[in-house]
Amino acid sequence: MPISFDSEKRIFKLDTATSSYIFEIYEENYLVHLYYGAKIPDSNLSAFRYTGGFASFSPQNINIADGMFSPDINPFEYPGNGAGDFRTSAVAIRNADGNNVTDMRYVSHKIYSGKPSIEGLPALYVENENEASTLEILTEDATTGIQTVLFYTVFENLGAMTRSVKVINNSDKTVEIEKVMSACVDFHTYDYDMLSLYGRWGKERSLERRPLAHGKQLVASKRGSSSHHQNPFAALVENGATEDYGSAYGFNLVYSSNFVFEAEVNQNSGTRVVMGINPENFGWQLKSGEAFNSPEVVMVYTPDGIGEMSRIFHRLYRKHLIRGKWKDIKRPLLINNWEATGMDFTGDQLVTFAERAKELGIDMLVMDDGWFGDRNSDRSGLGDWQVNEEKLGGSLAEFVNKINALGIKFGIWYEPEMISRDSNLYRAHPDWCLHVPNREKSIGRHQYVLDYSRQDVRDYIFGEMYKVLSSCKIDYLKWDFNRNLTEVGSAILPAEQQKEVFHRFVLGTYDVMDRLTKAFPDMLIENCSGGGGRFDPGTLYFSPQIWTSDNTDPIERLTIQFGTSMCYPASTMGAHVSACRRTGYDTKGNVALWGSFGYELDPNKFTEEDKRIVKRQVAEYHKYYDVIHFGDLYRLISPFENHFRAAWEFVSEDKSEALLTCVTMRRHPDRMLIIKLKGLDPDKYYVDEDTDEVYSGALLMNAGICLPNAEHDDGQSFIKYFKAVE
Ligand code: DGJ
Repeated sequence: MPISFDSEKRIFKLDTATSSYIFEIYEENYLVHLYYGAKIPDSNLSAFRYTGGFASFSPQNINIADGMFSPDINPFEYPGNGAGDFRTSAVAIRNADGNNVTDMRYVSHKIYSGKPSIEGLPALYVENENEASTLEILTEDATTGIQTVLFYTVFENLGAMTRSVKVINNSDKTVEIEKVMSACVDFHTYDYDMLSLYGRWGKERSLERRPLAHGKQLVASKRGSSSHHQNPFAALVENGATEDYGSAYGFNLVYSSNFVFEAEVNQNSGTRVVMGINPENFGWQLKSGEAFNSPEVVMVYTPDGIGEMSRIFHRLYRKHLIRGKWKDIKRPLLINNWEATGMDFTGDQLVTFAERAKELGIDMLVMDDGWFGDRNSDRSGLGDWQVNEEKLGGSLAEFVNKINALGIKFGIWYEPEMISRDSNLYRAHPDWCLHVPNREKSIGRHQYVLDYSRQDVRDYIFGEMYKVLSSCKIDYLKWDFNRNLTEVGSAILPAEQQKEVFHRFVLGTYDVMDRLTKAFPDMLIENCSGGGGRFDPGTLYFSPQIWTSDNTDPIERLTIQFGTSMCYPASTMGAHVSACRRTGYDTKGNVALWGSFGYELDPNKFTEEDKRIVKRQVAEYHKYYDVIHFGDLYRLISPFENHFRAAWEFVSEDKSEALLTCVTMRRHPDRMLIIKLKGLDPDKYYVDEDTDEVYSGALLMNAGICLPNAEHDDGQSFIKYFKAVE
């Protein structure tokens, strides 16, 4: 069993293939954290608990160790608030008597095979009970009677764990949850660098690395989405860790709204990490007998560097996060009209797109924004999900039949959480959007945000969507979200519950996404938020791919895709070839192949040469699909570190195939280019399909491939495919 409990020493040990996680039930039922790191066989770690020394200005629990045990300096599993530990808390509950002292101690536990789901929230899942084991620990604040259940699930073979928390109000009074982190990990030292992903619209998920320093360093969102600006991912890696070397701890929250990741280096130079719902603008009234579930944190540890950390996340998400029909089968290669036409299109025009798509081997046409209501610009129409038959030249079913008759599948765009100020829906229901009394509503892209905390609002939108989606054969839906939340209030909640609206909103979004996936199980859903503004595991639970960025420039995409790959697999990244200014179609295709591939342009404008390239890319898409979508990623040359080139490689699980891509961002002064491959079988021989030369895996990884005349110009690129020979 990967989870064990030594009842004599009262020590829990959670093992994965690569890690051990150890903590104990200490005196007075404190849960003291002892170790998280490379796998170890034993747990003789009591020296890591601090009972020996007196720490000035750190309060003691006089019942323990002659008054020498201070909650302020010990490492804890789930620290509370205001009861002797001054570091950042994991949980703070405002009691009925007005104070928010919270002190959870161990009560009982159970260990079992499998993994429970979390009501109303996305979470990793198992198909067979033997794929994971779970530890549940019940803790209680003896004064208030409030309890928490700490959930730890171990994916033994994948070097990963998940953690989440349920708060239960067993008292007879209403309390307010002010802060509930999904996990806390107390590291004993601070010799780590913190990795995080920052950005903005069109420039999502740039990688940033900083050494930890005393005090707090954090990434967070309070935008009502996981955001373009900071992703709910962070890692602590040992100082000096590289792609291939060193301890790496990755954290990723399965949540699509306000989050926080904090790393606080304390007076003893230990580091407390907490991650969960951002407590700023959060509060939850928990009535007697009610329970509240936190979202879950995914925690990955490897001793083998940042690259391996990413590969563990990728394997885990492909198997235990992505769901439904499109998890394992090939996704349709699509063409989307947005960059070509905006909202200014006709049905006949899109039929010509489908005709060209058919000639080129593309599988599906996606009709983007502008097909409904009075939606001819971004100033109007959101919420009026009735088909604009004038624009399409007939009913949606007639239009889709024309597309399908060409042998092309059809997909459609929606932005279900939004409402235009200029829309029939807003005129009929002005109180259906988020707002607070007597205060003007901020506008974003000329639109307001629907109050998805309300069941009636969600029912109406889902009903309208259902009518359209069931009226004909729709194979794909792009779910967009083009602004963040402001004046976050709901017309139907009492004053004391207004702090719940951010969380209730995202629960509402998940509810509608869930209903959609159940009503249309064969439909592929791609999420989007002005590009990649809601690229997180919560969203991926409902849609196996997400539009990575509105920026389709292949050189800009390099940093976006490298950053995104920190924890998200290639199969989740929507990546399209567009008509953007920089580079030729070759490089656009080579970069977009690293993802769920497609086109975003007017195919009527292709020259004969363009068509030749596109047909080749379509063939490459099919040939390399498995190695990219199911293989292991190796980041070889990072655009965050090298200003001349970027290179990456996919290797199939059985190491029989490898695909290398290299892009020159800026002409390099050296003519000779040597790239050392990674992840191959040293004992296998591989043929380079370009040259028919055969090399051992050992040679390719140690000597590398050598291109003596690689005077590649800005924006040029190449791919190389290696296949094992018998
Ligand atoms: C933002 C998306 O990222 C684009 O791809 C496009 O769908 C537009 N919204 C449509 O309004």
